[in-house]
Amino acid sequence: MSIDLPFHKSWFDDNEINEVIETLKSGWLTTGPKTKRFEDDFKDYIGCGYAIGLNSCTAGLHLALATKRFKAGDEVITTTMTFPATANVIMHERLCPVLVDVEPGTLTIDVNQILEKITPKTRAIMPVHFAGHPCDMDPVMELAEKYKLLIIEDAAHALETKYKGRKIGGLGNPTAFSFYANKNITTGEGGMLTTNDESLDEMVRVMRLHGLSRDAWKRFGKSGFSQWELRLPGFKYNMADINAALGIHQLKKINNFLKIRKQYAAMYDEAFSQIPELEILEKRDYAEPSYHLYIIALRLEQLTITRDQFVDKIQSAGVGVAIHYQALHLQPLYKKKFNTRLDDYPVATSYSARILSLPLYPRMSVQDIERVSNVVADIISCNRR
Ligand SMILES: Cc1ncc(COP(=O)(O)O)c(C=O)c1O
Repeated sequence: MSIDLPFHKSWFDDNEINEVIETLKSGWLTTGPKTKRFEDDFKDYIGCGYAIGLNSCTAGLHLALATKRFKAGDEVITTTMTFPATANVIMHERLCPVLVDVEPGTLTIDVNQILEKITPKTRAIMPVHFAGHPCDMDPVMELAEKYKLLIIEDAAHALETKYKGRKIGGLGNPTAFSFYANKNITTGEGGMLTTNDESLDEMVRVMRLHGLSRDAWKRFGKSGFSQWELRLPGFKYNMADINAALGIHQLKKINNFLKIRKQYAAMYDEAFSQIPELEILEKRDYAEPSYHLYIIALRLEQLTITRDQFVDKIQSAGVGVAIHYQALHLQPLYKKKFNTRLDDYPVATSYSARILSLPLYPRMSVQDIERVSNVVADIISCNRR
């Protein structure tokens, strides 16, 4: 099987390449002036108080939680339809992930089911802006306020997403973004935590680098040498300048990238709206999505093939696709450790067997989108029940 239209390709030009070369020539590769510049630009773009450069979104989720020092066994509510990282960090802190099903249409956390999962041990809620569509944050924030819970937003898919006209990352909750290779902008690997809380900003800056009081750039900086002190047992989660060099220029392209994604998503919508065997995801009135993923769900009862057979056929036609996701409660870890049952999460269970993500990125051409649409339509028409 040879794939000539991959699921994702990043878009760099001479600006990124020259900035990386300049970083290499400067001799300073790790956290330093480029990271600081990217953090400042990112903070301005989001319109938040603070932005801390990290080596992943996972690091951001983990640090936002770790700085709170909840008691082992306390509970954190999140969605079952997410990448393992969201819930792994809960377990790293010896806390218990409590999974909630998703709402049909957007696959974001079903806000109406959060209340029934809140117990005296609940400490936090981690909503995931799935595929770049925002969760309905007002009711989540009302619950958090009422029950004194922390909110940490997983915005791995949601750079550029707006909720009721406000950018995700600027709603006042600690929010973690990803710059992994296939994200809307990329630094290869990387992440950013945004917050309006000065003390969280300070704590995360210490915790991202082993718990040291000052990072190397400041220790050897112009203001004279000063020795570090170890404050806390921290982590090695800092962003390196060589990655930030990419981010600085990727961020400048963000509006153009979003325009192209939106145009291509509309082309897919148009092509698939007349195919009854396909369900396309919905957009709520409060949402301006980032169009990070374009997900289709197969109506399997109307087809003679399974989702996995569909994936084989589309890849045989040279088009790369991916699955986001097989829900967490279906994973062996959760079945074994938490005894999760399929009928506790009927919506996510059903979608997990029927969804796939089509390629959607600015380096694709209009012809590529038409090609993918035609391949999908052909597979459907050859396999109708
Ligand atoms: C929903 C979600 N959360 C968290 C992550 C982790 O991001 P990173 O790879 O930057 O740690 C991902 C990664 O794709 C994700 O999809």
